[in-house]
Amino acid sequence: MKFEAILFMLLTIALLVKSEHLIIGNSAEKELVYYKKVKYHAIPFVKRVKQVFYNSTDQRPIDAITVYDNLNSSASAVITAGGLGYTYVNLQLKSERGEALHYDVGIYSYYL
Ligand SMILES: *[C@@H]1O[C@H](CO)[C@@H](O)[C@H](O)[C@H]1NC(C)=O
Ligand SMILES: *[C@@H]1O[C@H](CO)[C@@H](O)[C@H](O)[C@H]1NC(C)=O
Repeated sequence: MKFEAILFMLLTIALLVKSEHLIIGNSAEKELVYYKKVKYHAIPFVKRVKQVFYNSTDQRPIDAITVYDNLNSSASAVITAGGLGYTYVNLQLKSERGEALHYDVGIYSYYL
């Protein structure tokens, strides 16, 4: 059981290293306060750029952010405002030229 847990962790880490996910902070034992599936189809020769903005309604600081690239592409995700320790965050998601954008965005805070 323990061995399997370790193996699973190693596999997870390997996957995270392999593709361009943005993982900040530790989401374990935290509450998912925001979730958004960001999905836009490809347009030839065009980079799709989308902003995701989150602002806590109860002023709880953000303790972890996970942005998974479901396409395993070279799309990029960057924080342009706020982030860990802030009550808000703005993320900019950018696809490769002519490629689709498909991200899962999760924002976590400590349980109250
Ligand atoms: C977040 O919401 C609060 C309360 O509505 C507001 O005062 C604050 O300016 C907002 N922050 C940002 C960065 O938009
Ligand atoms: C992305 O990579 C993960 C893990 O390797 C895999 O499970 C998934 O099917 C891949 N998705 C695509 C669209 O290639």
